[in-house]
Amino acid sequence: MWSFPQPDLAERYASILADKGIRWGLLGPKETERIWERHLLNSLALAPLIAQSATVVDVGSGAGLPGIPLAIARPDLQITLLEPLLRRYTFLVETVAELGLPETQVRVIRSRAEDHQERYQYVVCRAVAPLTRLLPWCLPLLRPDGELLALKGETAQQEISEAAPQLRRTKRTAEVVALDGGATAIRVC
Ligand SMILES: C[S@@+](CC[C@H](N)C(=O)[O-])C[C@H]1O[C@@H](n2cnc3c(N)ncnc32)[C@H](O)[C@@H]1O
Repeated sequence: MWSFPQPDLAERYASILADKGIRWGLLGPKETERIWERHLLNSLALAPLIAQSATVVDVGSGAGLPGIPLAIARPDLQITLLEPLLRRYTFLVETVAELGLPETQVRVIRSRAEDHQERYQYVVCRAVAPLTRLLPWCLPLLRPDGELLALKGETAQQEISEAAPQLRRTKRTAEVVALDGGATAIRVC
């Protein structure tokens, strides 16, 4: 299982989520008790699927999930946090600065996925949309050899079935991947 090489930084991020994240309405008030397991560790579960020194975009990052835990755990990655809503974008800019994450490693961009023009090795996302909607937003952000990694729950297999015609058309394949801590992701290659 992956762990945070800088646990102090992960603790600071957990405190920011528990305080400002809840005050700003980015997480529900009941989340305080489960910030580590439901948010930080769930995000971290994607780490083993991502190659060394890769470029990664977190689409619909919200309060920084899964992108900020990945940035803390994997300083080798270049991570872009993409978020269209001003309040969430502001939270991300302030949080990245407060954590002291270097600009060369993490940047924050205010944009919808479909308006963003760059290409990455990985698109990661959590709780943004079903796969049928993620595919048209996220595939254009991927390099030809890139992968979409979407954290999901029990609906993963059903979402893949519903997206089958789009997957065929775009010549992509999708599978459900079981992750540490009981988390689940859809991987589209
Ligand atoms: C339910 S929140 C999830 C936030 C975070 N990923 C998490 O797991 O806590 C969904 C996020 O997706 C963002 N979003 C919605 N449509 C989007 C789009 N077309 N492109 C990028 N982000 C989008 C929203 O602004 C919101 O921050």
